Amino acid sequence: MQKITAAITAVGGYVPEYRLTNKELENMVETNDEWIRTRTGVEERRILKGEGLGSSDLAVPAVLELCNKRGIKADTIDCLICATVTPDMVFPATANIICDKAGAVNAFSFDVGAACSGFLYALTNGAALIESGRYKRVVVVGVDKMSSIIDYSDRATCIIFGDGAGAVLLEPNEEGNGVLDSILRSDGSGRKYLHMKAGGSVKPATVETVLAGEHYVYQEGQAVFKFAVKGMAEVSYELMERNNLTSDDIAWLVPHQANLRIIDATANRMGLPKEKVMINIQKYGNTTAGTLPLCLWEWEKQLHKGDNIILAAFGGGFTWGATWLKWAY
Ligand code: UT7
Repeated sequence: MQKITAAITAVGGYVPEYRLTNKELENMVETNDEWIRTRTGVEERRILKGEGLGSSDLAVPAVLELCNKRGIKADTIDCLICATVTPDMVFPATANIICDKAGAVNAFSFDVGAACSGFLYALTNGAALIESGRYKRVVVVGVDKMSSIIDYSDRATCIIFGDGAGAVLLEPNEEGNGVLDSILRSDGSGRKYLHMKAGGSVKPATVETVLAGEHYVYQEGQAVFKFAVKGMAEVSYELMERNNLTSDDIAWLVPHQANLRIIDATANRMGLPKEKVMINIQKYGNTTAGTLPLCLWEWEKQLHKGDNIILAAFGGGFTWGATWLKWAY
């Protein structure tokens, strides 16, 4: 009997309307369009405006789009996993809230916190649930409303991040397509370079922590950059090697969209030409857990059954990894 694999059978995505351009940022911090483009590749990013709206409000349209495309009702979803670092609330899980708003009333749901690698971690977990044979429909969401934790007076971080969500449906496949292998890594000693100082149990939020801006992303960009270039490229190459995949075998690299230079370094290490690399960082910036599913969403029509696709990410934690899948439709 053919082994059951977990195949992506539908993709949904959502980005908010508002476009924060490099020009607009020039009026907010001391920066310029040329610097941002050449150092990061970002030209604009989307921002979710409006009182009382959070990550779940980005995720729900993505989940509903996916259900619509696949022709299924949300109440037939068995499990929903949400990767995010910007949950609606510290608790309950944003996944619970997404299920409530989307009508996925029969799903159990939980969040995964692995920053920019969150979608890969969640995808691996979701795939294992399908492979177990116990679950038939698992939705994996990657979403972040990064604008809720960004200091728009810090030019080193506010130029990079944006808001967005993507979601995939996983279902059992017996043709050998779907998630085939993953290498996931973490190293918590990297937390000193990228974290949020206050608001957790070590340092609960107070008036003082807010006044000191400790509820915003703290990043030592250069240090993170060095680890990211090395980590993302190495793990992607390792995944290719251990599965005997050459650059000719690979149809697409889906890289985390943190910095165009990190993407280029990974593609070079894998021997892939630019035409095989999904890049939308210029439009959306770094949407943290949203980047990978947003790429799949945008490129969906160009994908073919049997295509070998490598997804790769690096982010806060540090967390990083790569996943190999064969497209199923
Ligand atoms: O997705 C999660 C993981 N995160 C990442 O992967 C991010 C990795 N890091 C990066 O992408 C890059 O480090 C940044 C884009 C954050 C920064 O680029 P960089 O080339 O590493 O710049 P830098 O921090 O080394 O700064 C170079 C110079 C500095 O000025 P001096 O000291 O040389 O005079 C900065 O103050 O650029 C200055 N600078 C800016 N200038 C104009 C920093 N930010 C800006 C800015 N506009 N927005």
